[in-house]
Formats: sequence, C-alpha cells, structure tokens
Amino acid sequence: MKICPRLENQSSEPLYLQLYQYLKEEIQTGGIPSLKRLPSIRELADDLHISKTTVQMAYQQLLAEGYVESKERSGYFVVKMEKEPFGDLPHFSQPPSEKKPTPAQKNILFDFYMSHIDVDHFPFQKWKAYVNQSLNSEFLSYGDKQGEPGLRSSISRYLRQARAVNCAEEQIVIGSGTQTIMRLLCQLIGLDGKKIAMEEPGYDGVRHVFQGLGFEMSPVKLEADGINLDALERSGAKVVYITPSHQFPLGMVMPITKRIKLLQWAEENGGLIIEDDYDGEFRYHGKPIPSLQGLDANGNVIYAGTFSKSLMPAIRMSYIVLPERLLHIYQANRFKYDQTVSRLHQRTLQMFMESGEWERHIRRMRKIYQKKHDLLLQTIKNTMGDYVKITGQNAGLHIVTQIKSRKSADELVEIAERLGVKVYSTTANWSIGQEKGNPLILLGFGGLSEEQIVEGIELLHEAWLPFYEDQQKPIDSHVT
Ligand SMILES: Cc1ncc(COP(=O)(O)O)c(C=O)c1O
Repeated sequence: MKICPRLENQSSEPLYLQLYQYLKEEIQTGGIPSLKRLPSIRELADDLHISKTTVQMAYQQLLAEGYVESKERSGYFVVKMEKEPFGDLPHFSQPPSEKKPTPAQKNILFDFYMSHIDVDHFPFQKWKAYVNQSLNSEFLSYGDKQGEPGLRSSISRYLRQARAVNCAEEQIVIGSGTQTIMRLLCQLIGLDGKKIAMEEPGYDGVRHVFQGLGFEMSPVKLEADGINLDALERSGAKVVYITPSHQFPLGMVMPITKRIKLLQWAEENGGLIIEDDYDGEFRYHGKPIPSLQGLDANGNVIYAGTFSKSLMPAIRMSYIVLPERLLHIYQANRFKYDQTVSRLHQRTLQMFMESGEWERHIRRMRKIYQKKHDLLLQTIKNTMGDYVKITGQNAGLHIVTQIKSRKSADELVEIAERLGVKVYSTTANWSIGQEKGNPLILLGFGGLSEEQIVEGIELLHEAWLPFYEDQQKPIDSHVT
C-alpha cells in the first residue's frame, strides 16, 4: 500500500488536514481497504518528509471520526466497513412530472417562456458597484423583519408615483417571492373557515399556497373584462385574489367600472381583495393602468408586487402593501415572522433605487420589451395570419394565442418541441379543467432577442402547419 498524498506547504490548509482528507478519501473509496494497518507514525513521517506531529494529528482525526481504530503496540487499523458506505449515492425516484427530459427537450432552439427576462440589457456594472457598496460591516447582522426601512421607503415612493398605490413605507412587508409573501399574508388573514376566490384560469403558484394552507378554493370564471362578479358573489368567498392590470394568464385588463363594482363587493361583504400587480411596470400602448388599491378608500385591498419581471427573478424579492386592519395584526405579531430576503440584496436594491438607476432601468426595459412585443405580434400576423388570434397583448412579458387547431394545447406544445420551439399551455392554470375551445398557448418574449422571436415564430408555424383548421372558422373563445 502506497500512501502518496499531494501535500502543499503553500496551502492555507494545515498539512495535517490535507493528509487526513487524503486518507479519509482513500478509506472511503476502498483505496486503503478495510482492516488494513496504516503505516506507523514514524514511517509515514519519514516517507513524506513531514513531522511526526503532523501524521499523529491526521491519525487522531481519523480516529475521532471512527475511520480507524488504534490497537495497543500494533498501530492504527482501518475499521471494517460492512458494505462500501460511500460508494453508491442514494437513489431517489423522480416524481412523474419531473422525469428526465425527452430527447426533443434537450434541443430547444427557441424558448418562449413567460418568466424569462432580457439578460443582455441588465445593468451589470451598476448592479455590481452597489453589491460592493452594500457589503459593509454595518449590514452583516440581522436586519428589520419587515424589510430594510430605506428600501421600503423607496418602494413606497415608486408605488405612489408609478402605480398610484396609496401607501407609506410602514405598510410594506418584503418577502422572498410571491408565494412566500402570500403565505405570510394568509397567516395575517387567518384561516377560520375562509374561502378564497380566484380567477379561473389563474396563477397556479399562488393557488398552491392557498390550497396548501387549507383554504377552501372557489374558482370564479372569467369574462372578457375579468372576473365574473356575479359568480364571485355567489361563491360566498370573502377573500379574492386577482390580477386586474394584466390577468394571468389570459392578459385582459379589468376596466374601471368593474374595478369600482369589485370594491363595492368588498365593502358590502366585508371582503378582502388581493391585487397581484406582477408586471404592472410594463404597459406598451395606452396609458399605464393605475392600481386597484389606489381607488380603494376603505382599506379592503392588499396590493402585491414583485421584482421578478421588472428586475430579475433571481433576486427573489416581492412585497405586499397592507391595509390598516392587517397592518395592526402584523405589527402585533411581527416578532413571529422573520425576514426572508437577504439584507445585502435589499441594500443593493435600495441603492439602485435611490440613485435613480431603477427608474432608468424600467424606462429602458419598457422600450426594449415594447420592440420585442410589437415584433412578436407583427411576426405572428405575417406568418400565421388568421390561424391565430392574439389576446392579452400590450402589457407584461407574455401574450396569449388561440390556435385554430383540433389538437389540444398540450399536443401543440409537444409538436412544437419536436422542432425545437418551446411554448406553454395554460393547463396548469385551470383548477377545474379547461373547457372546450380553441387551444390556448402562452408566448413569453422577454428572454428572446428580436432575431430569435422572428425565427422562433417561423419555425413554430412550420411545426403547426399540418395541424391548423380552416382559416375562416371563427375562434371558439374560453371567456364569454
Ligand atoms: C401572477 C403572477 N404573480 C407573481 C409572479 C412572480 O412570482 P415571484 O415573485 O415569486 O417571482 C408571477 C410569475 O410569473 C405571476 O405570474
């Protein structure tokens, strides 16, 4: 048995640790077999030209961890391993939905994923500078549980100006992503037999949170202008989660008349409205749609926002604006709830916002996304013509297309994937199953370049060409 580790005198790791690490790995992998006697301390020290103390310390560590045992006057022996304990990694079977990608999935040329953002125009230099500045000893300890006050102040200023949200920094609670912040909100609302209504189809990410916490769900059908208020009333729910400025996934905007009726519903029924304004920064044609919360004089709306579309999903930062009655509950219980976003990221974003860089970024990205959005619409019109009806356009980072085809949306997704185009069905967004109607396909455009958008749509058209129905046939809609 030859023991020949590579010991580096220059390394910051002490020699005895390097030797211990080497011996441990040899034992684990069977290089030094079970029951084998290790060389004596003197032998190994001479062999490796190191001190006896170094070898002794390495052996002591192996002894302490149970890799070797010491026998009086005989030396150190590797313990008996019944079975190679480190040879095989544990094997976990994959859940059915996450099975290995099919060969087609590996060759994706164009991915129209709605949560991809444009990374080519991300202000890396500026962001890095603020990351550096935020790495300050002052901010290495725990921060405010509600979120950094300076960041909350910047967010509230921005929300008042850009989204007409009525808020002060005290009302804002920061959390790592929309699901996390919704979980906190549910704790504040309390369960006691409450039913939550949601748009059908709606954002499955949040539905899973509500269901997971045991709320009874009431899926409420959509009309062309958003949630059906009669059905909401009939549902008996006292809490409703909606996406009024760009319905997810179908993309309609709730008009002011309906917003006012919805607020009346809340006032008359002691209801609460959770407004998820997930991509309100990006409106390309027409005026920005002010928030529903800003119209509410009675504190019945909880406004929720995220930086996932406007900045980057990786930062995992979202927030809620609490109306007074929930703010009191939060403040009375705040010691129970920890902050889930890194303080350093919060500091970085705070500096980014305070410097004016955030607003410049939004203005710049709005122009970039608008170009991509317009190009996507134009390309679909030019290549697919009347085989496709577009809805949900003019905002956010995705559009909805209805395809004149007898194939289901999931089948169309698979057909596209075979040619290397990844598009998305809305199947997961329906909780009680999609009704009949022409298949709906979501197309995100944020993460693709202009060239990729054109090439991707042309390839998609080629993939679907054999499966289109008569062009003249009217589209069978999913909403009334
Ligand atoms: C309706 C809706 N809300 C919020 C989000 C963003 O979630 P998060 O803040 O967890 O990234 C998305 C992402 O697609 C969404 O569709």
